[in-house]
Amino acid sequence: MDCAERGLIINLMAYAVMTGIIMEGCVLRLATNRKSVRSYSREGVPLSSVLYAIKAALQAPSGANQQPWVFVVIEDMELKKKIREVCERGERKFHERVRGELKEWFRSRGISWKKPFLEEAPYLIAVFSLIGKPFAIQSTWLSVGYLLLALEEKGLASLTYTPSNPSEIGKILGAPKEAVLQTIIPVGKEIRSKVKEPREGLEEKIFINGWGSRISPDLHQ
Ligand SMILES: Cc1cc2nc3c(=O)[nH]c(=O)nc-3n(C[C@H](O)[C@H](O)[C@H](O)COP(=O)(O)O)c2cc1C
Repeated sequence: MDCAERGLIINLMAYAVMTGIIMEGCVLRLATNRKSVRSYSREGVPLSSVLYAIKAALQAPSGANQQPWVFVVIEDMELKKKIREVCERGERKFHERVRGELKEWFRSRGISWKKPFLEEAPYLIAVFSLIGKPFAIQSTWLSVGYLLLALEEKGLASLTYTPSNPSEIGKILGAPKEAVLQTIIPVGKEIRSKVKEPREGLEEKIFINGWGSRISPDLHQ
């Protein structure tokens, strides 16, 4: 390879990194690619991949290392149907009440009281927080972040669904009263590809050494 060819390759690589075609680092790539999926194929996915993702979630930090989380994996069709029915009952009431900007946001994304993904996805992961443990909710949600990235790594789609009536779902799953449902995460294969919601960049979201002091544009890349 001569000097000119090498130069061309280096320039192409730099262009690819700058435009996001190639992203440095595994975590950034997974985080950037992950998106919420609300329609799933009924195609099965390996339970081992779901367990792999929960293993990653268990590595999250937690208040006083109390690990205040419990994951209930649901694959039983009848149980998923029941969960969908109960969630949709709560969602109907919620969607009747919702007004203004949020209503418009739901409308523009086609989000309604209907939650077919609760039945279609081959697995649901119900994530509980053991209330009373230090920073139980914060820690549980950190573990959810780890879980989502690990599912992405396994090529699995997911959604952070937060039902309007979590205690009713807790009852169906036989959870004790100190275990409060935080989210139900459907896991499976995306049925039709959708575009990820846009994100703001470093220039909008970072200050340095105090509120209002923007970071130098040279450091953004
Ligand atoms: C705490 C939390 C609660 C959420 N609850 C719901 C929900 O109940 N239903 C839903 O469809 N999406 C829910 N989402 C997904 C968000 O709408 C989604 O993450 C956001 O619009 C950004 O889209 P993206 O995940 O595709 O990047 C929730 C996300 C978070 C972090």
